[in-house]
Amino acid sequence: MSNKWWMEGVGYQIYLKTFYDSDNDGIGDIQGVIQKLDYIKDLGIDFIWLSPFNTSPMDDNGYDISDFYDVNKLFGSLNDLKQLIETAHKLDIKIVMDLVLNHTSDEHPWFIESRRNKTNKYRDYYIWHKGTSGGFPNNWGSFFGGSAWKLDNTTNEYYMKIFSDKMPDLNWENENMRNELYSMINWWIDFGMDGFRVDAISHIDRDRSFENSKLANGKTVVLDTSKFSNLPKVHIYLKDMSKNVFKKRGVMTVGEVGGEPTSHDVLSYAGYESQELDIVFTFDHMWCFDSDSHNTNLLGMKKVFKRYQNGLFDKGWNTLYWENHDQIRHLSKYGDTEKYHKESAKMLCLALYFMWGTPFVYNGQEIGMYNYPFEKIENFNDVSIHTRYELLKKQGADLDEFIAQQAFETRDNARTAMQWDNTKYAGFTKRKNDMLINPNYTKINVLQQQKDKNSILNFHKKVFKIRKSELYKNILIYGKFKMLFEEHENVLSYVRTYKNKSIIVVANFFEKQAVIELSDIDTDKLIISNYTNICKHSEGLILRPYEAMAFELENI
Ligand code: GLC
Repeated sequence: MSNKWWMEGVGYQIYLKTFYDSDNDGIGDIQGVIQKLDYIKDLGIDFIWLSPFNTSPMDDNGYDISDFYDVNKLFGSLNDLKQLIETAHKLDIKIVMDLVLNHTSDEHPWFIESRRNKTNKYRDYYIWHKGTSGGFPNNWGSFFGGSAWKLDNTTNEYYMKIFSDKMPDLNWENENMRNELYSMINWWIDFGMDGFRVDAISHIDRDRSFENSKLANGKTVVLDTSKFSNLPKVHIYLKDMSKNVFKKRGVMTVGEVGGEPTSHDVLSYAGYESQELDIVFTFDHMWCFDSDSHNTNLLGMKKVFKRYQNGLFDKGWNTLYWENHDQIRHLSKYGDTEKYHKESAKMLCLALYFMWGTPFVYNGQEIGMYNYPFEKIENFNDVSIHTRYELLKKQGADLDEFIAQQAFETRDNARTAMQWDNTKYAGFTKRKNDMLINPNYTKINVLQQQKDKNSILNFHKKVFKIRKSELYKNILIYGKFKMLFEEHENVLSYVRTYKNKSIIVVANFFEKQAVIELSDIDTDKLIISNYTNICKHSEGLILRPYEAMAFELENI
C-alpha cells in the first residue's frame, strides 16, 4: 500500500453551526471557517471535515438534506464554499465533506414525490411497508426513540426511518437511486472536494424479511441494530460505489461504522484489499466508563485499542479520535474538568495521538472544552432528546432523572459555541443568539491559550509537530504498536517501533499516583511530557495525577 496524504495528515472536524459566526446572525458559517483558516493551519491541521452544509430544514442539524446540490443559506452559498476550498488549498489544507447517504429529509423532492402515490418513479427510492393489525409493520425501534416506521396518511403506508420522523431512509436496492447518488458525489468531486466522511454507512442494508426483533421483551418497539447494521449487502453497495466514484476518482473516504466491529469487520470495509472505503471510525473506545460513577474503565479501553492497533496493521489504516459532534466532551468522561483539567487534557492528547492511525480533532477539543451544565429540557437542541422526552412524558416516567442523565450523555455537549475569547458570547458571535455558550469560556478560550505557552492548545501543536518531524515521523506514523503493562488498571503504555527505533509512551489515566516498573528508561531521552520534571526511583517511574510522557528507546 502506498503512502497517502490522509495517512500523514491531521484532520480537524468543524461543526459549522457553532464554530464561528462571521456575519453576526448568531449562526456559524462558511465565511467564519475561512476567517479561522490561519488558526487551523497553525494548529498543524492538514484537512478539515466539515459537518453537513447542504440545504436542510435542520431537524437533525443538517443531517436531513433537502437539496444535495446547494448550500444551506444559514451557512452561506456555493460561492462561499468555493472560496473556502480555494483558500484552504492555498494553505495546503484539504476539505472533506460529510456525505449523508442513508436517508434524506422528508422535504427532499424525491420524498415529496415518493409519498404522493404508490406508482410514481420515486416511490421505490424509499422503504415503504403496509402496517399490521397492531399498527407498525414490525417492532423495530429507531436510534432517536420510538418506532423505526412512520405512517404517511396519503397512501396509508409506513416509511422506514431509523433516525427522526423527518429523515426517511433511502432504498439502496433501487439502482436508479444509487446512480443519482453517484452523480451527486461526482458533482462534488468536480466542485473540489478532496474526500468524504460517509455518514451512517453501515446501515444502508436492511433485513428484508422485516421480521419482528426477538429482543422486545414485551415492549412495543425495540432498537435492534442487527436488523439494519453491517448486513452483507452493505459491502456490495460500497464496492459498487467505490468502483464508480470513490476509488475511480481517487478521493479519500472515512466511513462511520458502529456496532462493535471486530478488526476483521473493519477490514471488510476499509482493508487495503476491500475496495470500499479508506478508513472508518469505530466507537467502542467511546463507551469505556461506568455509567453510574463515570469512572474510566481503562482495561476495557486498552482491549479496544489493541484490537484495532494490532488487528488492522499492515492490512488497512486506522483512525484516532476522542470526540465528534455525536459524543460528549472527552474530558468530562475520561479526564478531569477541575483541578487537573490541563494535565488530563494533555495526557489524553499524548496517549491517543502517538498511536498508529490518522488523528482527528473535534473543534474545541484542542482547548479542553468540556460538558455544558444542562438543567432543563429547554436547554437541549437535539431532536433525539426531544423525541425521547415526549415519549417518556406520555409514559409518565421520571423526567428529572432523564434530564440529569442526558445532561451527561447528550451530544449537545459537543455542540456549544466554540470559545474564541472571553468577550460576550465567547467571541463566537457579537449578537445575542440561541447557541449554548458554556459559562467556562471566560477561563477556557483560544485567545488565552495562544498566550500561554504551556496551554492545552500549544501542547496539541507540539504533539502534531513531533508526529510529523523528520526525526520521529517514521516511528509515529508508520511504526508498529505494542501494548505494554496490559493488566495495569491505571496506566496506558505502549511502544511504537519502526526498523530499530522505538518510542515508548506512558500515561496515567487517573488522579491517583501510579508506579510502573521501567527502571531502564533513559530520562535524557524524553521527547514530551505534561509535567516539568520526571519522578523516577529505584522501582521505576512514578506517574503523578494524569501524568504522561514519551521517550526514545534504543535497540529494542
Ligand atoms: C450520524 C451522524 C449523526 C446523525 C446521524 C443521522 O450518526 O453523525 O449526527 O444524527 O448519522 O444522520
